[in-house]
Amino acid sequence: MGVTTPDLLVEPTSAEAEPAFRLRGVTYTYSGRQTALGGVDLDIGFGERIALLGANGSGKSTLLKLLDGVIAPGGGSLRALGRDVAAVAEGQDSFSFHREVGLVFQDPDIQLFSATVLDDVAFGPLQLGLDHDEVRARCDAALAQMDIAHLADRAPFELSGGEKKRAAIASVLSLGPRVLLLDEPTAALDPRSKWVLVNLIRRLGDDHTIVTATHDLDIVPLIANRVVVLSEERRVLASGVPETILADRGLLIEANLIHEHLHGHGGALHAHEHAHSGEHVHEHGA
Ligand SMILES: Nc1ncnc2c1ncn2[C@@H]1O[C@H](COP(=O)(O)OP(=O)(O)OP(=O)(O)O)[C@@H](O)[C@H]1O
Ligand SMILES: [Mg+2]
Repeated sequence: MGVTTPDLLVEPTSAEAEPAFRLRGVTYTYSGRQTALGGVDLDIGFGERIALLGANGSGKSTLLKLLDGVIAPGGGSLRALGRDVAAVAEGQDSFSFHREVGLVFQDPDIQLFSATVLDDVAFGPLQLGLDHDEVRARCDAALAQMDIAHLADRAPFELSGGEKKRAAIASVLSLGPRVLLLDEPTAALDPRSKWVLVNLIRRLGDDHTIVTATHDLDIVPLIANRVVVLSEERRVLASGVPETILADRGLLIEANLIHEHLHGHGGALHAHEHAHSGEHVHEHGA
C-alpha cells in the first residue's frame, strides 16, 4: 500500500565496505516502559545526507541519540564509524568518537550550559586540546556560519528559542565533525535563519555524513539525497530518494506526515491533505 521496501540490507563485501552506520534489529526502551524503537534495520553510507521523517513519537530523536552514542541500544547491534556504539555509550573511545560525530539536540537547553554563547561554542574545541588561536578561529567561523557573532557574549538562557537553536548548532559546528546529526534544526528558526541552515547543509557536501530529523517537508529535497521514514510502530517504514517518497501520498498518510481535514472554500466543505510543513501552502488547482 504505497510502501517502499527498504533496500538497505546489502551485505558488505569487505571490512572497508562497512558503512558509516549499521543498525540491525536495534531496539530501545526508556525506563523499562516506553518502547521508543521497535527494531530498526538501517545502513547509512559515508557522504549520505539523510532526512529522517516520522510522526511525533515515532523515535527520530531516540534514533539520533543512539547514532551519537548518547544511549546504548537495548537490543540488536549498532556499529558507527567502525565502532560498537554500545561500548561508546559506556565511555569506551567516546572522546575520539565525538571528534567525528556531533549531535544537535532537539532541545537546545540540553546543549547550552555555559555562562556565554562563546563559552559554549568554545567548549568542544577546548576539550579537543586545540591551541588558543585555533579555538578562536573555530569559534569565529561557527558563530559566523550561524550568523550569531553578535550574540557571543550573551547568556544562553536569555536568548530567544531560535537564537538558542542557532547557538546550539554553532557549538557542534565548532567541533568540525564529519558526521552531523541534526534533530529538527529548523524547528524554531525564522525563514532567513532556516535558509542559512539549509545552505550550510548543502555546502558541507559530500565529505560530510548528515542525518536530519525534520517535520519541514519543504526543505527535504534540498538537504537530503535519501529519506528514511519511521512508522508509528517505530521501525523503518520506507527509504528512498526524496522525489519518490514525497510523491507517495499513501505512504505519507500511513506515516502520519500528511493528514486530511475539512476546509471551507467558497462555502463548500471538502477534505484534502496538508503537509506538516508549518506553512500549509497548497494548491487549489482546476
Ligand atoms: N526521556 C524519555 N523517557 C521516557 N520516554 C521517552 C523519553 N523520550 C522519548 N520517550 C518516548 O519514546 C518515544 C519516541 O520518542 P522520540 O522523542 O524519539 O520521538 P520523535 O520521533 O523524536 O518525536 P517528535 O517528532 O515529537 O520529536 C515516544 O513514545 C516518547 O514518548
Ligand atoms: Mg524528536
